[in-house]
Amino acid sequence: MRVLSGIQPSGPLHIGNYFGALRQFLALERENDAYYFVADFHALTSVRDPRLLREYTHDVIVTMLALGLDPERATLFVQSDVPETTELAWLLSTVTPMGWLEKCVSYKDKVQQGLPAEHGLFAYPVLQAADILLYDADLVPVGQDQKQHLEITRDVAERFNHVYGGERGVFRLPKPSILETSAVVPGLDGRKMSKSYGNTIDIFDEPAVMRKKVKKIVTDSTPVEAPKNPETCPLFGLFSLFAAAEERALMDQRYRQGGVGYGEVKTRLAELMIAHFEPARQRRAELLANPDHVRAVRSSAAARARATARAVLDRARAACGVG
Ligand code: TYM
Repeated sequence: MRVLSGIQPSGPLHIGNYFGALRQFLALERENDAYYFVADFHALTSVRDPRLLREYTHDVIVTMLALGLDPERATLFVQSDVPETTELAWLLSTVTPMGWLEKCVSYKDKVQQGLPAEHGLFAYPVLQAADILLYDADLVPVGQDQKQHLEITRDVAERFNHVYGGERGVFRLPKPSILETSAVVPGLDGRKMSKSYGNTIDIFDEPAVMRKKVKKIVTDSTPVEAPKNPETCPLFGLFSLFAAAEERALMDQRYRQGGVGYGEVKTRLAELMIAHFEPARQRRAELLANPDHVRAVRSSAAARARATARAVLDRARAACGVG
């Protein structure tokens, strides 16, 4: 299967990105033809400092490599290294009804958060459809917040196929892969973990920072001895992502029985989290000291990605009669 997904370089990656997306990237690269990219064109809708955008873009590749993605197996590229993307986005935008974009929650959310209502933000899902369709992707590993974008991608592909595809169709229809246990990773305040809410724990936060942030995770005022509901507790939600099955089951039981204090859970969660990312933290330090290696990964991946993209773009151009 062809697997493809992207991550915006809009700052350091957090554990929502890790459990929602990156962990799936690692699992899926083994048996599939995987393409993972840094969505820098998309990040232009929120990052307006060129130096910072370059730094974040480099940092996302470093993070993917540090977490163990293998550039020999997966193609780890940067979106803007494949200019075919924006050409396909235009072709797709000519068959995309305004109404589909108007109903997009992520556009409405971002405007509500104070981002200016610009065309790029509005047309964001069309660019994302181009990212996906350009590589004939079958499966797109993402968190729940991307589900609507995947639906639009399929709708746009079907529309283009209907208008131009004839019998065989031009684009392959992709499916999302969303893990039930980590579809929406909670942040410190119990809402979805997201940079724009300022409630993240970053994958490479220093251990002391991780401990401090974990202490801030919201909890209710249930006394230590009282029974608690693990299903509605964001602290338990985060704990269960890091704990092994046995420890998680035991904690679940102790919550329901009563007698466990949130302070104890937080201390244990911080320990588990720090230990989990320790090997990646060391690899990251090595990669940061070797930017040439990271640049070499980027440029060889760009060549591979472009070759795949070119063939699909030519198919789309021929179908609609340009060129
Ligand atoms: P982005 O950069 O916001 O997030 C990257 C990935 O992390 C997932 N994610 C989460 N999953 C669970 N819980 C959370 N709290 C959480 N926060 C983030 C996201 O669902 C995503 O999978 N539009 C995309 C980037 C993109 C893309 C693509 C993705 C551009 N083109 C093509 C797939 C295919 C985005 O903004 O993700």
